[in-house]
Amino acid sequence: MTLTFSSKAEPASVQIRLFTTEQRKELPPEITDAEFSLKPGSRVYIHSESTLYAGLGDREKVNADTIRLAVGAAAMALKKTGRNRFAVQLSDWAQFAGPAVEGIVLSDYRYEDFKTKKTHPISAVTIVVPAAATAAARKAGERAAAIARMTNLARGIANRPGNIVYPETLAEEVEWHAKKFGVKCTVFDEKKLKSGKFGGILAVGSGSKRPPRLIIMEHSGGPKGEAPIVLVGKAITFDSGGISIKPAADMEKMIWDKCGGTAVIGAMFALKELGVKKNVIGLIPSAENMPGSNAYRPGDIVTCYDGKTVEIVNTDAEGRMLLADAIGFARRHFKARAIVDIATLTGACGIALGDSMAGLWSNDDALGKCVSAASKDAGEPTWQMPYSPAFDDQIRSEMGLVKNSGGRLGGACTAAAFLRTFAEKTPWAHLDIAYTAYRDKETQSLARGATGFGVGTLVRVTEQF
Ligand code: BES
Ligand code: MN
Ligand code: ZN
Repeated sequence: MTLTFSSKAEPASVQIRLFTTEQRKELPPEITDAEFSLKPGSRVYIHSESTLYAGLGDREKVNADTIRLAVGAAAMALKKTGRNRFAVQLSDWAQFAGPAVEGIVLSDYRYEDFKTKKTHPISAVTIVVPAAATAAARKAGERAAAIARMTNLARGIANRPGNIVYPETLAEEVEWHAKKFGVKCTVFDEKKLKSGKFGGILAVGSGSKRPPRLIIMEHSGGPKGEAPIVLVGKAITFDSGGISIKPAADMEKMIWDKCGGTAVIGAMFALKELGVKKNVIGLIPSAENMPGSNAYRPGDIVTCYDGKTVEIVNTDAEGRMLLADAIGFARRHFKARAIVDIATLTGACGIALGDSMAGLWSNDDALGKCVSAASKDAGEPTWQMPYSPAFDDQIRSEMGLVKNSGGRLGGACTAAAFLRTFAEKTPWAHLDIAYTAYRDKETQSLARGATGFGVGTLVRVTEQF
């Protein structure tokens, strides 16, 4: 897609025009209230005028999220009718060029590797802003486009099913992209994981014929010797639950249990592209959680990378086992300045917050605030969730140090308390993206499947913390 920022649209091109409820009277008279509500995301196309009218709602409530949704939904609607060159009239909203571009680029992605009929991508977009605002709009728009493209790359990997993407092939694919983008990437195979004592990753991977991996990505944009920020993303390529097997209903959605990992992958490539001047490590522990004669089982005691012992009470609480190893590795090996993990960790998080907000936990006020602000700016909403020693009590083990599940009550919070144990005193934040990571159905502005949730947040956190 070519992106142009200009004070004029090509005269013949299709246009997206944005209208607040206050501007109702300026619309062509043939548009009826029934077909166009003017709410954010509503839209109507008038063929004779080659114009798609998109609603913004009340003027005083318009913000970056409104523009992202309105422009994204409009772009998706035009693309569906085969109009893949258009201009967006952003003269009144030039300060939102970034979110507008994000909406467009994200709306252009669709998973169709196995479709014989493929849709045409958007080919050219002109963002129309006042002449005095073009330079600033271009700067914000190009940055937004870079992040959104990496978000789409993350979605593309996340949407591939478990028979195609498994730990080995995930690692190969990341290595391939890393070479192309000039990002350093190292992969630990099962031998290396054994000699390194990554007990958690190995335990989870042991039920599958497909051995686990730890993918390590390095962005050295900061001064040599500066302690890195470490991003950790759960990449379970398929979560059957293991011996504590899941019910059949919705199990196919567990191909998206790698979305935390793919968010870190997308963020690491975006950091490189944006030239962020920080040292950042991306750790993506990956395994397939399967039942099998060699699978880890309830009752097992697993010794994690940092020596802490975990009593397995439920093999379906596998994500935290991978994260425990990676968090320990971040702390001990990389001497992390801060750790931010992201994972489709608990169904309980979806019960608590629904599918539009991710849960956020932190052991450090400054980092927690930073992640919260970053997520707001990225249009990836989060809600800060509590810590209490009562959660620690729930996961205390009679056999080892901790249990890998504290039961149903406060399931998202006890999972966070488990991870917090492994972070020890290092500033740490945790994002549970269980239901925000994917959409089972297409939305107004996004295709079905992985949303890429977290890429924008992680990029901003590494820039700002
Ligand atoms: N990957 C799941 C969490 C999940 C559930 C993500 C639904 C997206 C949608 C995770 O590994 C899991 O199975 N968690 C268990 C934890 C429990 C056994 C303590 C859960 O949420 O039930
Ligand atoms: Mn599970
Ligand atoms: Zn899982």
